[in-house]
Amino acid sequence: MIRLDSPSTEYTEALGAKIASLLKGREMIAMFGDLGAGKTAFTRGLCAGLGITDGVSSPTFAIVNAYQGKFPVYHFDMYRITNADDLFAVGYYDYLGTGVIIIEWSENIEEELEPDCIRVTIRKTENENERIFEIEGLDEYADVLC
Ligand SMILES: Nc1ncnc2c1ncn2[C@@H]1O[C@H](COP(=O)(O)OP(=O)(O)OP(=O)(O)O)[C@@H](O)[C@H]1O
Ligand SMILES: [Mg+2]
Repeated sequence: MIRLDSPSTEYTEALGAKIASLLKGREMIAMFGDLGAGKTAFTRGLCAGLGITDGVSSPTFAIVNAYQGKFPVYHFDMYRITNADDLFAVGYYDYLGTGVIIIEWSENIEEELEPDCIRVTIRKTENENERIFEIEGLDEYADVLC
């Protein structure tokens, strides 16, 4: 596991962009963390790293936003998803393996995540602009990310 301290929103976005540069195009990135942790900020940076600069926001009501950059990106927000029927209804299973899948509120679909997914946990700290990142599944790139 890689543990990083993000001192700012910009750092978090830059971290997302760095991780984007490591992707081959079919990975699942499962994000964990509370309201306002920085999941969308991280996703915005990751998308920017893939050449997607417009319209990245939490797809809370839509559940999924699709973007096209270097790879297709499917950005899910599972905040309102409570069971496998809901997931099926939004087409989650059809998207698997067709692009980069990046998921907010992965806590809600833990059982349905791909076993080899990259896990990104973001924790708030007592400092308003600081976040702790724990990244699982990218240990081989620790020197690039730290
Ligand atoms: N180090 C940091 N990294 C990321 N965001 C930060 C940081 N410091 C402050 N912030 C702020 O915290 C907020 C994070 O909001 P964001 O929408 O990314 O959270 P979220 O995890 O997607 O929340 P939600 O569950 O509501 O979708 C933004 O206003 C951002 O500017
Ligand atoms: Mg969000």
